[in-house]
Amino acid sequence: MSLLETARAVREHAYAPYSRFKVGAAIRAESGAVYAGCNVENVAYPQGTCAEAGAIAAMVAGGDTRIAEVCVIADSPNPVPPCGGCRQKLREFAGGDVRVTMATTDGKTLVMTMDQLLPGAFAASHMERR
Ligand code: THU
Repeated sequence: MSLLETARAVREHAYAPYSRFKVGAAIRAESGAVYAGCNVENVAYPQGTCAEAGAIAAMVAGGDTRIAEVCVIADSPNPVPPCGGCRQKLREFAGGDVRVTMATTDGKTLVMTMDQLLPGAFAASHMERR
């Protein structure tokens, strides 16, 4: 199954009764393993989690910490980019040249790199004094 197909399939499991906006995410780790996540909302709205966060948690739980490729899919008129918080979460485990494919359920895709999605990202180097 392609990364896009994995993201499309996991999106079906999204728990989004409040927004009704289901999102699926799939990560291919550098090991080759594929991890999937969907958004999980909560009646206390800020407690909800994004699809990307779920896929990252699955990846780390699976023993991987380096991302090779990401795919996100939603039923949207245009490909939906990861939210700002998820860009930072992905950047923790992904180099700037990692490709993020954003897709709509009806077949539109947009590919951007992590550096394009999050230029000037805060990094560990910013905490070094010299
Ligand atoms: N959402 C994601 O899962 N990923 C994104 O990149 C954008 C937004 C979810 C969060 C919430 O459950 C719903 O989409 C509407 O914001």
